[in-house]
Amino acid sequence: MSLSVKVLTLFPDMIRAVLETSILGRAARQGQVDYTVVDIRDFAVDKHRTVDDYPYGGGAGMIMMAPPVVEAVEAARENDEAPVLLMTPQGERLDEELVLELLDQASGAGEIILLCGHYKGIDERAIELLNPREVSIGDYVLTGGELPALVVVDALVRRIPGVLGNSDSAEQDSFTAALDGRLECPWYTRPPEYRGREIPEVLLSGHHANIEAWRREQSLARTRQRRPDLMDDDQ
Ligand code: ADE
Repeated sequence: MSLSVKVLTLFPDMIRAVLETSILGRAARQGQVDYTVVDIRDFAVDKHRTVDDYPYGGGAGMIMMAPPVVEAVEAARENDEAPVLLMTPQGERLDEELVLELLDQASGAGEIILLCGHYKGIDERAIELLNPREVSIGDYVLTGGELPALVVVDALVRRIPGVLGNSDSAEQDSFTAALDGRLECPWYTRPPEYRGREIPEVLLSGHHANIEAWRREQSLARTRQRRPDLMDDDQ
């Protein structure tokens, strides 16, 4: 069964452009995922299609109004069990563990909804009514939730079995279980020599056990140096 991914945004073209490209696009064409992009402006309640307004109490910046946001989510949602994510720097920080948890929940429901905030924020009553899972992609502030939503969709879709060409590659990537949370080793391809730099000799040896041992050592050394926080105490 194909997973239904619904992205609610004020900038649908920005989302569509990415979702139809490369591996995300191929996953949809192969029927592994199905994208719906909803323009929140279609749920505005006045003839000017207003979706934002000044904050009560004053202050700089505009606030997304509750009615279009709530009604867009209600119209898009087919399963009450489906996770609804609100992209916001105030949310829980995305990591591979959260990606897998969300994929599990989304797969169970057949659906996931991603709500992209914009301007200064969303009327708190929309958040209370929808009770979304608030997700941040890191401690920095972007101009809107579109790029964060695309980050989440990319991270989710590449973990759907069969989406990546080689079923091993997702497992072996940095931060995933097969490497026990270690970073990737260096990789090389042709030519064997470039500007006087040769590739490590072991890679030409044809000795698979030695190559594996070398890659494991490189991966550990890199993790120790760059991300000591990922190392177990016994490594
Ligand atoms: N919207 C703006 N900045 C964001 C971030 N870092 N994560 C998620 N949504 C955001």
